[in-house]
Amino acid sequence: MATLSLSGIRKSFGQTEVLHGIELDVADGEMIVVVGASGCGKSTLLRIVAGLETPTSGTVRIDGRDVTKLEPADRDIAMVFQNYALYPHMSVFENMAYGLRIRGLPMVEIRKRVAEAAEMLEIGPLLERKPRQLSGGQRQRVAMGRAIVREPKLFLFDEPLSNLDAKLRVQMRAEIRRLQKRLGVTSLFVTHDQVEAMTLGDRLVVMHKGRAAQVASPMEVWGVPADTYVAGFIGSPAMNFLSATLVQGGGGAQLKAGPALPFADGPRPGEDGTKLVIGIRPEHVQHLPDGAGALPLAVDLVEPLGSETVIHGRLPGEEVLVARLPLAAGAIGEVLPVGLPPASWHVFSAEGARLPARATAPA
Ligand SMILES: Nc1ncnc2c1ncn2[C@@H]1O[C@H](COP(=O)(O)OP(=O)(O)O)[C@@H](O)[C@H]1O
Ligand SMILES: [Mg+2]
Repeated sequence: MATLSLSGIRKSFGQTEVLHGIELDVADGEMIVVVGASGCGKSTLLRIVAGLETPTSGTVRIDGRDVTKLEPADRDIAMVFQNYALYPHMSVFENMAYGLRIRGLPMVEIRKRVAEAAEMLEIGPLLERKPRQLSGGQRQRVAMGRAIVREPKLFLFDEPLSNLDAKLRVQMRAEIRRLQKRLGVTSLFVTHDQVEAMTLGDRLVVMHKGRAAQVASPMEVWGVPADTYVAGFIGSPAMNFLSATLVQGGGGAQLKAGPALPFADGPRPGEDGTKLVIGIRPEHVQHLPDGAGALPLAVDLVEPLGSETVIHGRLPGEEVLVARLPLAAGAIGEVLPVGLPPASWHVFSAEGARLPARATAPA
C-alpha cells in the first residue's frame, strides 16, 4: 500500500527537454492511466518513477519518502513491459520466482507466493513450461504474475497489452482491472489507447508533448475536456471542431455554418469578432428529418457499424462534420438535415483553451 507523488518532474535528453514539469499525486490503491500519443513522454515518466531514468529536476516520493536518487531495486516497485521481458531459458515458475530468490526469500515462501499468483492468473498448469511454449496472452499473465509475487508498493505498466490481438487485449484489460482492484496496489499504467485509458483508470493523465494537459476522472476528461487537444484525443470518432465568431456583445457564437446561438449566463469569453472554436461530439449531432433550424450536411462517406452509422460530410462553409447516428441514416451524395444541440457545445478559444461559456437554445 502506498501513495506516489511527483513534483516538478523535468527531463532533458541532451538539449531537448521532453518532460516540462509534471505534477501528480496518486492516492493509495489508485489506478492512474497516463495516456497520450507516441513520443509525448509517457515511458520516460514511468522510467523516472521506476528509477531507470533520473529526472533533470523534480522529486519522486513514495509514501512521502524521497526516492528520486534510489536505485530501482530499492524502490519496492514492480514493472510490466510491453515485451514482457521474460527470461527465455527459465520456466514459468523460475521466471516468477527469480526476483524473490535474488532477495533471499525462503523457498517455502516463494512457492506459496508463486502458487497463489498462478491460481489468481489461471496459469497453474503452465508453471513448468518455457516462455516460447506460451501464447502471447499467457506470457502476459506470467509477466503479471512476476509483478504480483513481489508484493510491491507500486505497479508500473508500460503498454503491456499492445502486443496482443484486439480480443485478447479487451479480455486482459478487464483482468488487470479486476486484479488491481482486488490487490489494491497503487498503479501507474501507460498507454496510447484512449479506450484502454477510459476503461482502466480511476483517473487519467492526458499527456501532450511532455505536459499533463489534464488530470481528471475518465468521465470528466470526456465531459469537460481542458483543451482542444484533450477533446480531440479522448472519444471516438473524435470531437468535431467548427470555427465561430463571438457576437451579441460577447454573449453568443456565430457559426460559419449556421445560426448565431446565445450563451447561457456566465462569463463572456471576449469581444465581438473574437475567434472561437466550437466542439461537438459526433454522438451529439442529431438527425432532424423535418426539424426547423436544421443544417444541411452534404454526406460524402457512410460507415455502417451495425448498431449505429457514422456519417461524414460537409456543412455550408466547407466545415467538415462527423455524426454518429442510430440505425441506417444517410447515403453518399444525400443532404442530411442535422442539428447541433447547444447544450452539447464545448466552447474553446482560437488557441484551444476551454472557455467557461455554455451555449443555450435561442429563446
Ligand atoms: N534515452 C533517450 N535518449 C534520447 N531521447 C530519448 C530517450 N528516451 C526517449 N527519448 C525521446 O523522448 C521523447 C519521449 O519518449 P517516450 O517517453 O519514449 O515517449 P512515449 O512513451 O510517450 O512514446 C521522444 O521524443 C523520444 O525520442
Ligand atoms: Mg512508450
